Amino acid sequence: MLQKPILSEGAETALRREMEVNVFGLHRMMTAFAPRIAQAGGGTIVNVLSVVSLFVAPFNATYCCSKHAAMALTDGARIQLRKQGVHVVGVYAGFIDTDMARSVGGPKVSARQVAERTIEAMSGSRDHVFGDTVSENIWQTLRKDSSDFEAAQQHAWDTGATPWGSASS
Ligand SMILES: NC(=O)c1ccc[n+]([C@@H]2O[C@H](COP(=O)([O-])OP(=O)(O)OC[C@H]3O[C@@H](n4cnc5c(N)ncnc54)[C@H](OP(=O)(O)O)[C@@H]3O)[C@@H](O)[C@H]2O)c1
Repeated sequence: MLQKPILSEGAETALRREMEVNVFGLHRMMTAFAPRIAQAGGGTIVNVLSVVSLFVAPFNATYCCSKHAAMALTDGARIQLRKQGVHVVGVYAGFIDTDMARSVGGPKVSARQVAERTIEAMSGSRDHVFGDTVSENIWQTLRKDSSDFEAAQQHAWDTGATPWGSASS
């Protein structure tokens, strides 16, 4: 996550890097593994997406672009692979307590919780896994009406306020 707004110095470089890892890397992994999983009788591909697959946070918008695209890859592959017995799961979370979020001061969900919820979803054949309440609430909110949420992002950008509520698990 390179913390670049869409129109900022270095944004194109950041966008290319994030797309390379989060989108083309994901695509290469699925292309390599899906036929083997199908051949072996079926299984699950888990793609770790993000809460910012669901909306654009203006401060790290290039990362959000890559995570939106990663969600589209995940949703497309799920449809394509279902009949081959390959279940494709998308995982969403706010901040997870890993190296990547080391510099984040606010609350973070544990990697263990995200993993446990993912395993639970795999056995229940659910397509979307919410690793924390932040992602679950945002998913529900956006499905009802996204206009307030988008206005909050605009407000965050205009005022420098926190783009979404506190990240609790
Ligand atoms: N942490 C969060 O707050 C958070 C929230 C939502 C979603 N996510 C997503 O969760 C996933 C895992 O991240 P994490 O939190 O576990 O972060 P992490 O602890 O920093 O781990 C990132 C992993 O990605 C690998 N990696 C980085 N650049 C790579 C590259 N160019 N090619 C191949 N591998 C590369 C790293 O490999 P090395 O160890 O070899 O460097 C490392 O294993 C990511 O997709 C991230 O976007 C994270």
